[in-house]
Amino acid sequence: MPDRPTDWKFVPRSLPGANADILWAMKTNFFARYFLLIGVCFGLTVAGSRAEEPTKAAANLSPASGSKVTGKVTFTKLGDDVQVIADIQNLTPGKHGFHLHEKGDCSAPDAASAGAHFNPTHQHHGGPNTPEHHAGDLGNIEADASGKAHLEWKGKLKLSGEDSIIGKSVVVHEKADDLKTDPSGNSGARIACGVINAAD
Ligand code: CU
Ligand code: ZN
Repeated sequence: MPDRPTDWKFVPRSLPGANADILWAMKTNFFARYFLLIGVCFGLTVAGSRAEEPTKAAANLSPASGSKVTGKVTFTKLGDDVQVIADIQNLTPGKHGFHLHEKGDCSAPDAASAGAHFNPTHQHHGGPNTPEHHAGDLGNIEADASGKAHLEWKGKLKLSGEDSIIGKSVVVHEKADDLKTDPSGNSGARIACGVINAAD
């Protein structure tokens, strides 16, 4: 057996017998390594992009406009939909407008800093089941006699991409949303607000 070639330049064009086998083995080894490298890069890219797409988000609601309303809202990706589960307390009994607003800023005492309804498709106000509505129009939550409201809803929202709801806010209103009047269903003051953050 000759010494193993260390560089392509030192390998003659035609090699009989054992040397041709060495050349073939070198080629095979080269392509095997090349495809392994491509495979690893592709795998890391796929894993990386998946890690960036959250499947859960949450908002902790704080009182606004002098209320004592608090609560928690979670968002979970279920296939093409997002499931929303809200638990809110210290409300007056009855219906209260419940929306996603366009800015993740609840700093103003009246929560005006949260901006208008989240409306990436530029539609008029409505309810979650009306033909036209803002993406953030989740309708009403209804509090019982003890002031507690629980809502479970599933629909077309996104936790990633251009129209992601992460970085927006959840706002609860003083009055019921009539599900039709622009811009916010005549639902009155903003009594609780929370920024939507990605969660595990
Ligand atoms: Cu609102
Ligand atoms: Zn709206």
